Amino acid sequence: MPVLHSIGQLATCPPTADQADIGLIADAAVVWQGEQIVWAGPGDQLPGAYAGEPHFDAEGQLVVPGLIDCHTHLCFGGWRGDEFEMRIQGKSYLEIAQAGGGISNTVKATRESSAKALFNKARTALDAMLALGVTTVEAKSGYGLDTENELKQLTVYADLDHAHPIDLVRTFLGAHIIPPEYTEDRQAYIDLLCRELIPQIADRRLAEFCDCYIDAGAYTIDEGRRILQCARNHGLALKVHAEQISHTGAADLAGELGAVSAEHLERISETGIEALAEAGTVAVSLPLASLYLREPYLDARRLIDAGIPVAVATDFNPGSAPSYHLPFAMTLACLNQQMTPAEVLKGATSYAAKAVSRQAAIGSLLPGYRADMALIRAPSVNHWLYHAQANAVTRVFKDGTPAGDSL
Ligand code: NIG
Ligand code: FE
Repeated sequence: MPVLHSIGQLATCPPTADQADIGLIADAAVVWQGEQIVWAGPGDQLPGAYAGEPHFDAEGQLVVPGLIDCHTHLCFGGWRGDEFEMRIQGKSYLEIAQAGGGISNTVKATRESSAKALFNKARTALDAMLALGVTTVEAKSGYGLDTENELKQLTVYADLDHAHPIDLVRTFLGAHIIPPEYTEDRQAYIDLLCRELIPQIADRRLAEFCDCYIDAGAYTIDEGRRILQCARNHGLALKVHAEQISHTGAADLAGELGAVSAEHLERISETGIEALAEAGTVAVSLPLASLYLREPYLDARRLIDAGIPVAVATDFNPGSAPSYHLPFAMTLACLNQQMTPAEVLKGATSYAAKAVSRQAAIGSLLPGYRADMALIRAPSVNHWLYHAQANAVTRVFKDGTPAGDSL
């Protein structure tokens, strides 16, 4: 039973209702057996029974639960740096999409990429994410938009989950945009989603969640309702990309359908907030997308005051958020969403676990939880998220095993 001792500050991040409660213990120790934590507390109370166990010295550093990036579009072909320049010159994300660029560009590049090329590219990103302290990643399809290529993306995720220490949570996002070849017959693509893709993906357990992008240039509320209801009938849990570029009422729909999470929400209304609070839906904030698109940030205080758990994720994708740096996204959430560092940490650990329905297994460092931990060169959570560094993480334990000693 290994012991990690001399922890300056241990953030246990209990899955409690208070966003700011990160369960800090000073001068702490953690003990685990196999993949599971068996004890966590003040070092001077470490039970004598663990005295002769193998020891790891945290050297006074901050220790937090392995971070959970609960919203990414991890697997994609190509990049879109040229659109970055177009946006800087004044074109909007929607204008670029309406001119045939945006997500359609990435669909083309993803269809043209082999599964092996997509696997290798995503694995490189996962290596870097692990070094940043991330131990679980939610990953969406949505750049294939036909049977062959959606299955290709989801299979890449299943293979990466086996091949890489990071755990992947798979989400089907066949309803990302209407694929270019169906723009004249949207209904036919939605029929394909509901009659072929969703049943097949659910049967083969290729995804656990189904997501739908409801927005200008994507799906309408009525289309989203049909797709999400179909997914729910096939046993998939629901996520919704809601209220990002325009206000549509998608947050209200997420609440109505009992979605596990609603994402973006930059333009959420009061009724949307009420619907999410009532349904117990997690709000996933994506501050990198607001930064890159120069859009408003989530008004997190209103949601927290309404009792909604607010998670923080990267939205890593080649368009609106071309970065997988979750600690940087966390600093942005502090600065632009008026969340304290403690609230943000909870949003990237136990509330992020809730956004992927794993709050009983990961995201906290209490007995019974998975021994996924990040050691951070900082005396406190405040210092870590305030002093933005390339990477403040010095060591990661995944399932109780050190994930490489020279991060
Ligand atoms: O969450 N808004 C829709 N989907 C992604 C962007 C995908 C892309 O631009 O390729 C998002 O921001
Ligand atoms: Fe997204």
